[in-house]
Amino acid sequence: ESEQSVWRIGVSQCSDDAWRTQLNREIEREALFYPGVSLEFKSAHDDSQQQIKDIETLVNDGVDLLVVAPNEVSAITPIIEKIYQKGIPVVLVDRKIDSESYTAYVGADNYEMGYQIGQYIVNRLGGQGNVVELTGLSDSSPAMERHRGLKEALTESGHVNLLATVDAGWRLQDAEQVFDSVLTCYPEINLVFAQNDRMGVGARNVAVRRNRSKDMLFVGVDALPGKGHGVELVSDGLFDATFIYPTGGDCVMQVAMRILQHKPYERMNLLSTALVNRENARIMLMQTQHIETLDGKIELLDKQLDEFLLRYSSQRMFLLACVVI
Ligand code: FRU
Repeated sequence: ESEQSVWRIGVSQCSDDAWRTQLNREIEREALFYPGVSLEFKSAHDDSQQQIKDIETLVNDGVDLLVVAPNEVSAITPIIEKIYQKGIPVVLVDRKIDSESYTAYVGADNYEMGYQIGQYIVNRLGGQGNVVELTGLSDSSPAMERHRGLKEALTESGHVNLLATVDAGWRLQDAEQVFDSVLTCYPEINLVFAQNDRMGVGARNVAVRRNRSKDMLFVGVDALPGKGHGVELVSDGLFDATFIYPTGGDCVMQVAMRILQHKPYERMNLLSTALVNRENARIMLMQTQHIETLDGKIELLDKQLDEFLLRYSSQRMFLLACVVI
């Protein structure tokens, strides 16, 4: 019925977890403001070969624009170059590729965030101590950038040692596995920096089991709201701090639409981060709960509007039928 042109946006996520669920939900909610847009989501479950297939499927399905969080830099760069050269706009979210063949990027500056975390750690340890870092997949761009930033800040400090940097693939179970041997190798660890909260939880579980959790602080990244996530971990005193890694799904959708509608847009859309520590975790919990309620109401309104329109159009059909008779 609608006169509006229809746009199809494909979203290829590298993983499937609470952070991505929040991002996808924000994209969907923002899409409510753009009638005539349809979304198709895929998740590669941390498998680059799967992501290549997902991207090919989305392109074969005829999407007009691709939103993608590339699992690993070298594995995913070629397929993105290929589809970008076909003329399909590509919006990278959160993770990057090793090429200029993309239309726009939406996400935080992971190097800068790593650097800020490093500075926080130096301060927190009073300028000296031993740190262990758990990284995400070592060929994914946030893992590399967070590491570079952290290292830079610790090196500048002079007396905070980075004892070890270990790949735990962004996952809780992997972190539990690798951190067990880390604990055996290093008798004195003052702080664990996990590149995401999930791996921090894994590391902490092991430290609790080995009776060493009281000896060290845990710092993570993501700071998701909700049960068992980063903000609560800090508020409950299990983590020393975490840093907000903004999902920014609304921004992703806005940039995508500007591109599709041939309006001017920014190529680099940098989202900002912030420290969550015991000073502000409780207030953040309260505020995010409130936002969650409001988000739910927007979704409810949308559903009610749909039902109303459906009823309205069937009544109109009925009236038209009466007039014809
Ligand atoms: C979610 C996630 C986050 C992390 C980000 C890095 O899939 O693992 O926890 O901050 O990806 O790309």
